[in-house]
Amino acid sequence: MDKLSITGGQSLSGRLRVSGAKNSTLPILAGTLLAKEPVLVGNAPHLQDVTTMIELLGHLGADVVIDEKLNVEVSAKDLCQLRAPYELVKTMRASFLVLGPMVARYGQAEVSLPGGCAIGSRPVDQHLKGLEALGAKVVVEDGYVKAEAPNGLTGTDVYMDLVTVGGTENLMMAACLASGETRLHNCAREPEIVDLGDFLNTLGAQVSGHGTSTITIVGVSELKGGHYRVMPDRVEAGTYLIAAAATGGEVFLTGADPHTLGAVLEKLQMAGAEISSDDDHISLRMSNTRPQAVDIETSPYPGFPTDMQAQFMAMNAVADGTSTIRENIFENRFMHVQEMNRLGANIELHGHSMAVVHGVQNLRAAPVMATDLRASSSLVIAALVAEGTTVIDRIYHIDRGYETIEEKLQQLGGSVQRVR
Ligand code: UD1
Repeated sequence: MDKLSITGGQSLSGRLRVSGAKNSTLPILAGTLLAKEPVLVGNAPHLQDVTTMIELLGHLGADVVIDEKLNVEVSAKDLCQLRAPYELVKTMRASFLVLGPMVARYGQAEVSLPGGCAIGSRPVDQHLKGLEALGAKVVVEDGYVKAEAPNGLTGTDVYMDLVTVGGTENLMMAACLASGETRLHNCAREPEIVDLGDFLNTLGAQVSGHGTSTITIVGVSELKGGHYRVMPDRVEAGTYLIAAAATGGEVFLTGADPHTLGAVLEKLQMAGAEISSDDDHISLRMSNTRPQAVDIETSPYPGFPTDMQAQFMAMNAVADGTSTIRENIFENRFMHVQEMNRLGANIELHGHSMAVVHGVQNLRAAPVMATDLRASSSLVIAALVAEGTTVIDRIYHIDRGYETIEEKLQQLGGSVQRVR
């Protein structure tokens, strides 16, 4: 099993190009199942989760070709399978996003209940409730969700009980081929939802209001082919910004969209970072070598993203002062705390949703274990700060979401090696 060996103590500095967004690419690839003609998806990152989605599309009968520029072309003219098996869904929750497109286009689908990161129970009740509102008959049997709508879906008002990114995406896609108008209420407003809506419109869908809490979709009889370039990955960008700040360095990110990172950039400035940006770059420089402690609280977009809570905690671990971190999205997203304390951090947990971080001057190397995707990247940041060489085990979690992380960190002067 691969590990990362990181010798800490250097300030990260240099230029980096941000990859395409994983969390946009996955729903967009699922959305290709709605189209009868070939769809070309550009700027897709080379990641394990994307490979898993491509495998799933192939299993369902889509033809998938990846060209020399890593564009992914999907032709889902006719599917041979309307069942997404446990083996392909268990490692990645986003696989569940094929449900809406398949029911919408074929009137039936069976998708295994999802797996993915071990960060809480993560139900899919809102996806199912919404599909039922659109007229599908849904049962959960033997670990599979079985949905049927032999006469197609019918547009209606759907009220989600809570803000869910995946739920909003599944229902947006399903509604594209429903008859009549659908209004989705209490939608997630994440930039990836905007990207998905723009993608669907490129194929001829009629989606409006994406990026607000009410999305309207006027159903069309079919979607055509097209070419779409995925947005930059805001979580990857934010992770490298935090890594540079935690190590007292400076970084210039190209192909990054600052408009999607408002809450994170604001907190970084409060920690002492000087930030400048234009439409496609962000640069960060730490004015002091030691960051100031900053409280954070996660919430749906445009609030501070849960996917950057762990990385920010790594910076707070060595900051001047004490900070409070509240996690409001997932119930088990502090698994990195124990590992950070092994590196000499002083973090107390108060229940499932609050951590108090007493900043220490230095962390010290220790063997640690990655537990989920974003927790892993927080350990990378902690190891980059720590004195000595830290070995992080189980980094397959990182490979799900960070493209060539060791190469990118080396490019910034980090001493990072992949070892077996
Ligand atoms: C997506 C992101 C993930 C991010 C998360 C929150 C992708 C591929 N993944 O995950 O990186 O951390 O958004 O920003 O885009 N919930 C329910 N019932 C449902 C659906 C969700 O109770 O039917 C709960 C979940 O358990 C969780 C919360 O709602 O507590 C948010 O989940 P959701 O927004 O759906 O996250 P994902 O789409 O799985």
